[in-house]
Amino acid sequence: MTTNTTTSDQRLRVLIPEDRLQARIQELGAQIRADFGDRPITCIGVLKGSFIFMADLVRAIGGDVRCEFLGVSSYQGGTKSTGVVKITKDLSGPIEDQDCIIIEDIIDTGLTMHYLLEMLSVRKPRSIHVCTLLDKPSNREVEMSADYVGFSIPDEFVIGYGLDLSELYRNLPHIAVYTP
Ligand code: PRP
Repeated sequence: MTTNTTTSDQRLRVLIPEDRLQARIQELGAQIRADFGDRPITCIGVLKGSFIFMADLVRAIGGDVRCEFLGVSSYQGGTKSTGVVKITKDLSGPIEDQDCIIIEDIIDTGLTMHYLLEMLSVRKPRSIHVCTLLDKPSNREVEMSADYVGFSIPDEFVIGYGLDLSELYRNLPHIAVYTP
């Protein structure tokens, strides 16, 4: 049996359609560029979930942008955070004296971002900010607020636009709620 990842899948309900996503990303990019002026920005995408958002956001930011990636896994295939953050890929170089923005697809319990901020701060960036496409503030286990938030969403399991369920659905152009 193959898994149906089309929009006709009865288990999927569109939460944020593609046009709203793209419009909000343009706003975020413009806001970030305005805040940083013409300074270079090091965007650190947290893999895997952020890869599509990162691609659209860095183009919306424009100007001088460095692209870096961190491999992180906390959900390990399931629908609940394990609370254990595993680094699967480190940055390709130092970030000392650079203006950095960590780019996430979602902040849920906040455990991943809490860990990443501690880990990257000791590398002495000039500044470090957080941008997340989705924020689920009702589910926090540690205090955490992003500097740039695309959408605040309710406590539902969401997929698409980079977010997965057991590695599928990342290629949906919109954000959907998955109900088994
Ligand atoms: C997701 C997401 C964040 C993290 C947020 O990653 O991309 O990194 O969970 O959850 P938290 O706030 O509860 O820590 P996931 O472990 O699903 O890996 P993936 O990005 O490779 O899908």
